[in-house]
Amino acid sequence: MTPDIKPFVAGNWKMNGERDQLDQIALTARGVDEELAAKTGVCLCPPATLLYVATTLSEDTSLMVGAQDCHPEKEGAHTGDVSAEMIADCFATHCIVGHSERRTDHGETDETVLRKTLACHRAGLTAIVCIGETEAEYDAGEAEAVLARQLTHGVPESTNEHNTIIAYEPVWAIGTGKTPSPDDIATIHAFIRERLAERLGGPGERMRILYGGSVKPGNAAELLSVNNVDGALVGGASLKAEDFLAICETYRGV
Ligand code: PGA
Repeated sequence: MTPDIKPFVAGNWKMNGERDQLDQIALTARGVDEELAAKTGVCLCPPATLLYVATTLSEDTSLMVGAQDCHPEKEGAHTGDVSAEMIADCFATHCIVGHSERRTDHGETDETVLRKTLACHRAGLTAIVCIGETEAEYDAGEAEAVLARQLTHGVPESTNEHNTIIAYEPVWAIGTGKTPSPDDIATIHAFIRERLAERLGGPGERMRILYGGSVKPGNAAELLSVNNVDGALVGGASLKAEDFLAICETYRGV
C-alpha cells in the first residue's frame, strides 16, 4: 500500500463470460458495500458483449465497470473495433489498455498503447495501462529496462492519478500460478513509482500502481501489503464473485 492512495481492485474477465454468468456480476455488485467501497475501488471488466448489461446490473451500487480494450479513434471504418466513446456510452468508466495478451495476440506496440490511453482520456475513461516483462526479458535481467521503455513510450505526458492507473503484470506470472516474491514486487513497484514521479511529478507520486499475475484469495493479503502495491488486476480469480470479493475484502480491515 502507499499512504494516502486509495487502492483499486480490477477484475479482467478476458474472453470469458456469457449471459449465464451475469449472476456473478450481480453478486459482485452486491458484495461491494459502502464500507468496502470506502476502502477500495472495485471494478469488473467483462467482455464487450456484456458491458452494457454489466453497467445496468451495477447501477446504484459501488461496483465500477470497465472494458478490456478500445480503438484509438473515435469512430470510422474499423470493422469489429470498439471506441472509447462507445465504452463510455455504455456507462463504463474504465478501460484496460496494453494488456500483454493484446500486445502478443494483436502486435500492439507502446505507440498503440499510448494512442489508446489518449483515447480513454478523450472519452473521459480512466485507462488501466498494463506493463510487464516477459519471462525471457526477466531471465536476461532486462525487466527494468522494458518497464522504463513501456512507461516512457506508452504513457502520455497528460497522464495523472485521475485518468490513469498503472498495472504491473509480469507476463510469466499471468495465468501460471507463479508470482514474484514480495521483495521482488516491492523493488519493481518502487522502480515504477520513481519513473512515474520523475516523468509526471506529483501525479506520478499519487498514481495507483496495481500488481497483476496469479492473484488469488490465498495470496492477496501478502501481495497487497507490499509497499507501492495499490491494488490488483485479477484475471482468473475474478470470474467467480466469491473469489473476487475475497480478494477485495483484504482491504476491509485495513
Ligand atoms: P491472472 O491474470 O490473474 O489469471 O493471472 C491476470 C491478468 O492477465 O490480468
